[in-house]
Amino acid sequence: MFLNEVKIMKVSIRDITKSKGRVKITMLTCYDYSFAKILDDSGVDIILVGDSLANVVLGMEETRKLSLGEMLNHTRAVAKGSKRALVVADMPYVAYQRNPKKCVDYASKFINCGSQAVKVEWFKECQYVVKELIKNKIPVMGHIGLTPQTAHLLGGYKVQGKDEQGALNLIKQAKILQDLGVFSLVLECIPYLLAKRITESLKIPTIGIGAGKYCDGQVLVTYDLLGLYKEKKPKFVRVYKDLSQDIIKTTKLFIKDVKKGKFPTKAESFSEIKKK
Ligand code: KIV
Repeated sequence: MFLNEVKIMKVSIRDITKSKGRVKITMLTCYDYSFAKILDDSGVDIILVGDSLANVVLGMEETRKLSLGEMLNHTRAVAKGSKRALVVADMPYVAYQRNPKKCVDYASKFINCGSQAVKVEWFKECQYVVKELIKNKIPVMGHIGLTPQTAHLLGGYKVQGKDEQGALNLIKQAKILQDLGVFSLVLECIPYLLAKRITESLKIPTIGIGAGKYCDGQVLVTYDLLGLYKEKKPKFVRVYKDLSQDIIKTTKLFIKDVKKGKFPTKAESFSEIKKK
């Protein structure tokens, strides 16, 4: 039985933690109201307002450049469209890595925008941040491995934990975050056997991206899944449907119709004001 086959009004954090070892968890990123409604109808368990917003929607090079206002706006829109899925918002770099002391204020803004939890990437002071958030009853999803906000400190967008020391560091980070109380953990771009080891060592569910099949769940950037973002295509991405081709074909139909005077028709137009 999958979570999406169970009649749940709203997926809760408890539904996610209870899934460990029973059913696989699905998570997809989302950045706007209309997409949120579609993803929600599809039955995905978690909708992540990812800071990949910076790359796939706003055309920025780095997720670190995203402002708090941008993330809050998109979180508000996604939360409005998501009735069933659990909504998790990425804490943007400026909101907690540059300003750890203000993390509770900033995270509360995301909860006020309608998200049920925030995601925090591993960084030097993340233990302080996670502890503060959880003390203030803000549910936290952790994120280790390739953490894009600090990719410049990790040697770029590379697979992490490939050597013994790197692997041990990640195992340690996972345990620290679990002990601090995160309800789940994203594992990004790490060898699949290391992901298996981490997954088996934890009581909380792991959600992998580029971390192989042994994680408790999987996440993809929706724009990758649908072939809408072409700039980078990491090895772990599966394009389930290249919608960009459908969009081009459809747009061409519109252009053709307009050029030939076939759009709009009378039925698609308003009639004149009737004289009294
Ligand atoms: O921002 C994002 O899209 C993410 C996922 C890749 C997990 O953090």
